[in-house]
Amino acid sequence: METTLIILKPDAVQRGLMGKIITRFEEKGLKIVGMKMMTISQDLAGTHYAAHKGKPFYDGLVKFMTSSPVLVMAIMGNDAITICRKMMGATFGSKAEPGTIRGDFGVSNSFNLIHGSDSPEAAEKEMGLFFADGGVQKLDRAIEQWVYDFGKASPE
Ligand code: RTP
Ligand code: MG
Repeated sequence: METTLIILKPDAVQRGLMGKIITRFEEKGLKIVGMKMMTISQDLAGTHYAAHKGKPFYDGLVKFMTSSPVLVMAIMGNDAITICRKMMGATFGSKAEPGTIRGDFGVSNSFNLIHGSDSPEAAEKEMGLFFADGGVQKLDRAIEQWVYDFGKASPE
């Protein structure tokens, strides 16, 4: 099972879209094991988006991500990283397919509602950054045997 780091960005919080987006992950069958609101500091934004430092959109990105509170979630499931990225859709709201979060709820390219880790390495690093003080729950769902087929060697 993978755990991925999802951030509902300042525009999602300000536009009152948290509930609708959380519902999508819950209804998919993914398990939310951590959730908190926070205001991202300049330092944290810089570390989180270090790979983009020097790019033309970097300063605007850090300004946006630190401008207003976000909702941070730890989401667990088989292949959770890829599944969440697919559910998010393409980076730009103007290009993202209908049916995806970015495709259904936004039109902007830089205000694109949601972040999700893009690899196992990124997920581990980002979970360490945003849940450094713990807060990830061990959650045994009663419904688990109806979410996955446990009749195989590993749940699928
Ligand atoms: P994220 O890291 O936030 O999950 O988004 P992503 O992987 O889909 O996209 P990435 O290439 O990592 O870009 C990070 C964020 O920077 C903003 N951006 N703006 N205006 C622009 O040209 C531009 N390019 C990127 C977006 O907020 C994007 O999510
Ligand atoms: Mg990215």
